[in-house]
Amino acid sequence: MKRIGISTGGGDAPGLNAVIRAVTLASIRRGWEVVGLLRGYGAFFDPNQIRILDRPAVRGTTHLGGTILGTRSGAYPFERRVEQDDGSVVVEDVTEEAVEGFHRLGLDALVAVGGDGSMRLALKLHQHGIPVVGVPKTIDNDLAGTNVTFGFHTAVDVATAAIERLHSTAEAHDRIFVVELMGRYAGWIALFAGVAATAQVILIPEIPYDIEEVCDHLMARERRGRHWAVVVAAEGARPVGGDFTWSKRIGGQTESLGGVAERVATQIHERTGKETRTVTLGHLQRGGQPIPYDRLIALRFGAAAVRQIEEGEFGVMVSLDPPTVRAVPLELAVSRMKSVPLEADVVATARDLGICLGE
Ligand code: F6P
Repeated sequence: MKRIGISTGGGDAPGLNAVIRAVTLASIRRGWEVVGLLRGYGAFFDPNQIRILDRPAVRGTTHLGGTILGTRSGAYPFERRVEQDDGSVVVEDVTEEAVEGFHRLGLDALVAVGGDGSMRLALKLHQHGIPVVGVPKTIDNDLAGTNVTFGFHTAVDVATAAIERLHSTAEAHDRIFVVELMGRYAGWIALFAGVAATAQVILIPEIPYDIEEVCDHLMARERRGRHWAVVVAAEGARPVGGDFTWSKRIGGQTESLGGVAERVATQIHERTGKETRTVTLGHLQRGGQPIPYDRLIALRFGAAAVRQIEEGEFGVMVSLDPPTVRAVPLELAVSRMKSVPLEADVVATARDLGICLGE
């Protein structure tokens, strides 16, 4: 009998509960026990932060958004900030403590579900002797080593529907809408949703944009009698030779990507005189039910992770290599960010459809 731990880390993505359910059921089938670690890795430092996952715990959860285990993003969990008497702060590495916590929970293996940050943590734990299998999650689809991450296609689905809804109101008012989509430094969501929903302009981080080209495109359209347009901007889009757009997080000192829609809309208005509006879709792209494709991928990933554990193959991440799911070394997953390749056919498709990419 084995005792398997499972954690969900980083920003949530639709499909997390499907992974948890698949890991739980595939383990129970083998006579193993599954322990859910609550809110990331808190359980390694406080053994009460767990939930035993039995059949009732995962019943009816495949289609649910979020994660029944909770998650944390931002702060690195294997570091502790200790305030000194003089007010200064010393940062302690507590990885060894985390490893002790893993053993204290009586775990034989860990399934770490997450994006690049979580896979880095998983690799670190593996290097400290913990048997780990990673499962690739992120709406951004920017994780290397897998054809796709679960959550991505649901985000594309939400974004596509939103862009389509803007067409009619943009046309009714002869306005330009600039829609800001998530994706961090990769343009996958913006490109896929923009092409699928027939945006007139798509700006992605991989292709720095020239605002003059964007405005020329919009004005040429205007001359053809089309007085409205939808511009899709990935949050990581940036002008040629310019920087990303940042905004301060509420209540914090840190900044995150955000505000590019305002920036682009202002520039378009200044150059064309057109009435512009912005829409930032934000976390709507992450919340709610996973579409069937993501549920299926998530279930396949979860079941495959348990098969990896059964085979005793650790330090790997399950990955989609169509038509099958296989495992790749965690090192590969964290080796680079998976951006949109400029030679990707979907980029060529966008150009062939007459969509302006800001070039
Ligand atoms: O990585 C997923 C993601 O949703 C990014 O697309 C976005 O930049 C970021 O997380 C937002 O993070 P938070 O949930 O901390 O606001």
